[in-house]
Amino acid sequence: MGRQMTCTAPVNIAVIKYWGKRDPTLILPTNSSLSVTLSQDDLHSRTTVSIAPEYDQDRMWLNGIECPVSSNIRLVNCLQAAREQRKAMEAADSSLPSWSTWGIRIASVNNFPTAAGLASSASGYACLVYTLAQVLELPLTPSQLSRYARLGSGSACRSILGGFVGWEMGKLANGEDSLAYQVAPETHWSELEALILVVNDAKKDTSSTVGMQTTVKTSTLAQHRFASVVAERMQQMEQAIQDRNFEQFAKITMQDSNQFHAICLDTYPPIFYLNDTSRTIIRIVTTINELCPEIQAAYTFDAGPNAVIYAPKQHMPRLIQLFTYFFPAAHPLPSEEFFNDPYHCVPTGVTLGETLPSEYESLRDTFSVMPVGSVKRIIHTRVGDGPRVLSDPAASLLGDDGLPR
Ligand code: DP6
Repeated sequence: MGRQMTCTAPVNIAVIKYWGKRDPTLILPTNSSLSVTLSQDDLHSRTTVSIAPEYDQDRMWLNGIECPVSSNIRLVNCLQAAREQRKAMEAADSSLPSWSTWGIRIASVNNFPTAAGLASSASGYACLVYTLAQVLELPLTPSQLSRYARLGSGSACRSILGGFVGWEMGKLANGEDSLAYQVAPETHWSELEALILVVNDAKKDTSSTVGMQTTVKTSTLAQHRFASVVAERMQQMEQAIQDRNFEQFAKITMQDSNQFHAICLDTYPPIFYLNDTSRTIIRIVTTINELCPEIQAAYTFDAGPNAVIYAPKQHMPRLIQLFTYFFPAAHPLPSEEFFNDPYHCVPTGVTLGETLPSEYESLRDTFSVMPVGSVKRIIHTRVGDGPRVLSDPAASLLGDDGLPR
């Protein structure tokens, strides 16, 4: 008789970026980082892990397609770390069932389309190790569990916790002190929200894994960042979060995104993640921040052209009007596919793409409307909690035979 559990885990978007490894196998970073966990109500990975004595080998299905386990070294490392811990528990207490010897079956799906251009490795690996720890009954705090998620993908360790999450780079060679920790829970600053502007982009990006290794080898600017910039920024950012100081939060977020992309340019050969649409988004955000008495929004970009805009809840209705005006949809509006307004932010009587809020009227003099479809989708979300256990058996992705349902 086997055991199985199903859980969901969130996406996180860094405001102090992780970029560089000092140990690529254990995935130990060259600097600490900090992120905001986004709501699983909008974006999540869902994973079922099933263990049984009769499973002859470990198998995994991602979005319904089988992926060989043994050739995925990061996945093998996650499974091995969890099994070893279980094995030690069983050795210490002979009354425990020998689950460490059973085969493992994993099925995982994302509720956001791959075409949305969002990295799924953070939510995916966080969900995998969280669910595995539930199935094997590993007595771990979220910080301890973050070590296993880190073996799958660096940024995944931050998706083990909700709210505002730091990842302490640590100093030890074995990685035991390279852990995620919660700076503040999601309830501390629930007015902070996010818009993801999915930018249309045909070209294939340099993967984070390959890109950051080239950076560590070749960029002198990166060495300066690791030695003299990040530690102070981490402190300032934690303070800004404690004080719910959006001005300070926004400034550091934008500066850190800028420095990350400067480091990409300083890498040899250079890496370009931003495109013309990304740069126009940066100029629009900086223009409204200068125009208005209080700072309106902060942009940040990961290893691709998509923008994540952080802003207080009260600014969201006008920011949505602003971005849909300058980046018109390829679909006729209102369009669920382009923007589904989950938090009912579009005021009645306003047609998106037609009106510019009065505060931002003067932008018409500086900016022209971008080509239709430059932004292909806008996702509105907020700060959210850490991984969740789904108790409804209907949520399971695996049948009793250990195969996808
Ligand atoms: C730009 O976590 O995807 O999003 O550890 O090699 O799997 P690996 O890299 P990954 O890198 C994320 C880089 C980033 C910044 C961040 O999330 O901090």
